[in-house]
Amino acid sequence: MFNLAISGTLPLQGSDIAVQWDHLYSFLIWISAFFFVLIVGGMIYLAVKYRRRSGVKSQYITGNHFLEALWTIIPTILLLVIFGWGYKVYNNMTQAPSDAYEIRVIGKQWLWQFQYDDGKSTIGELYVPINKPVKLIMTSEDVIHSFFIPNFRVKQDVVPGMYTSVWFEANVPGKHQVYCTEYCGTAHSEMLAKVIVLDDQQWDDWRAGKTLSPIPDAGKTLAESGSGTKLTSATAPVSLIDQGKALYESKGCVACHSLDGSKKVGPSYKGVFGHDVEFVDGSTVKVDENYIRESIENPGAKIVKGYTPTMPAFKGLVNETEMNALIAFIKSLK
Ligand code: CUA
Repeated sequence: MFNLAISGTLPLQGSDIAVQWDHLYSFLIWISAFFFVLIVGGMIYLAVKYRRRSGVKSQYITGNHFLEALWTIIPTILLLVIFGWGYKVYNNMTQAPSDAYEIRVIGKQWLWQFQYDDGKSTIGELYVPINKPVKLIMTSEDVIHSFFIPNFRVKQDVVPGMYTSVWFEANVPGKHQVYCTEYCGTAHSEMLAKVIVLDDQQWDDWRAGKTLSPIPDAGKTLAESGSGTKLTSATAPVSLIDQGKALYESKGCVACHSLDGSKKVGPSYKGVFGHDVEFVDGSTVKVDENYIRESIENPGAKIVKGYTPTMPAFKGLVNETEMNALIAFIKSLK
């Protein structure tokens, strides 16, 4: 509706959110333009019409309740509409569907690394299926970065020591540009990547480790995009969950944490993810990526009720890719 006239000024719409976002943005632009013309135009008209003339004395006006009510009520309604609309789009942007396909993102000076559930790992190329919700769970190895896909209208800070996330449902096949949008050092402007949106057949091929034919930039032909490099996918090694299981054994977690719900020195991993856990001080928290990370790196921060603080801190002993695998493993233990 509103976006037609300014669509040429915005990047390609590569996701459902992009369309919703553009409608709201266009509404804001047009309503601003309308009031700019109304106010500045009215001002100029009145300044000319009531300019000072010799011998003419202007009328003395003390107030007008009707006008005051009008310029209070109309802007109030407009702002409430903008708030409600913005809240709805923001909610859609931040609440990932529970069945979203999860991909782990690690930012570091100066590249983007991606980890998939089947154990594959790519650098600079994020492979996603078309028309399916994809959730990115992101962290940084060093400083704060920001992950931005203009075509999808999603952007999120990527922060060391914690997890943030974005989600999208891509609906335009091909390659989409990714930027880092938080100054992170010398090569910040070269910290680039491509999201490669694959159709169902390409996605299956990529999952199976087959070589894909060249893929053009989104909205362009191969000849136009001029980057006809063949994309070879790494053969899937061990799945992320199995990598996590191996780490659970090699890092020694197995000594104190069971997988079957039985109580050892520490609580069992079984069925904890997504559920509330109670601590010795009576407080509770819902187990998510950030809680598991904290429990591994700094286990003394929160002590689960019924246990004592005996676990050593693993901060610095588990790297980011290992942490992602461990979390994926714990998450899988329903
Ligand atoms: Cu990473 Cu800027």
